[in-house]
Amino acid sequence: MAVIFYFSGTGNSLYTAKCIAQGLKDCRIERMTEYIKNPYKIEDDTVGFVCPVYCFTLPPYLHKFFDIIDAEPNYCFGVVTMGGNQGRALLELKERLSKKNITLNYAKTVVMPDNFFVKENKDCLSKLEAAQPVIDEISQSIALGKQDCTEVKEALFWKKLGTSVGWWFMRDVLRIDQVFEYSTRCVGCGICAQVCPTGNIKMKGKKPNFYFECANCFACKHWCPQHAIRVGGMKSQLDKSYTNPFISLKEMTNR
Ligand SMILES: Cc1cc2nc3c(=O)[nH]c(=O)nc-3n(C[C@H](O)[C@H](O)[C@H](O)COP(=O)(O)O)c2cc1C
Repeated sequence: MAVIFYFSGTGNSLYTAKCIAQGLKDCRIERMTEYIKNPYKIEDDTVGFVCPVYCFTLPPYLHKFFDIIDAEPNYCFGVVTMGGNQGRALLELKERLSKKNITLNYAKTVVMPDNFFVKENKDCLSKLEAAQPVIDEISQSIALGKQDCTEVKEALFWKKLGTSVGWWFMRDVLRIDQVFEYSTRCVGCGICAQVCPTGNIKMKGKKPNFYFECANCFACKHWCPQHAIRVGGMKSQLDKSYTNPFISLKEMTNR
């Protein structure tokens, strides 16, 4: 049996996890955020992780997940999706797993549309097209139980400077953990609350209320049909929204 744990704001990582799962026998996919709420002893032989790169490392929200994970797989893989630069994300994954006595056997990056610096629709589509053969090769390699951690690299720059400067910029300049909605555009549909992977948004009187568990995934901003949500200083507009076209809103909200 196999299990893939994923975290995804706009669907790239969920799509990648689904493609890999299709190539494996008896493979289920589970949200990392659900595991944080209901941890259990993982008995599967093959265990995989798929998540995005944030600020040249793993999303800090997932530290909780890697702190509590309880597994002894015979084969373990990790795949990160990203706009273009992983920094030290895979190394961070390897280090976090080794603290739990889990050896990473296979690790890869996939370049997909960036949900931070959102490009035009046609650029997103061509990036998705280019990503597909990469995802297919990763799926085949994992199905064959290949060993390959050549992309797990220490990059001193990111270790000493990159990730901390990145997060300082995000928090203090862009203030991305502060989410505001444009009340004039918001119609109170509640989709932001449904897609939020951490349950950080609660609807009160047909208006979203944002609390203190933001994972910085931008799901609320990108899935809002009214483009009514801006994250920190980042305005939300139709041409600045991105969600993976192969992932439905239902899949993002099914919890
Ligand atoms: C807060 C934030 C920080 C990001 N930082 C990086 C980064 O350092 N390097 C990179 O290549 N992409 C970065 N991205 C882009 C995402 O990693 C990429 O779009 C990913 O595929 C999104 O996955 P998802 O659709 O599963 O949420 C960032 C995105 C967000 C929201």
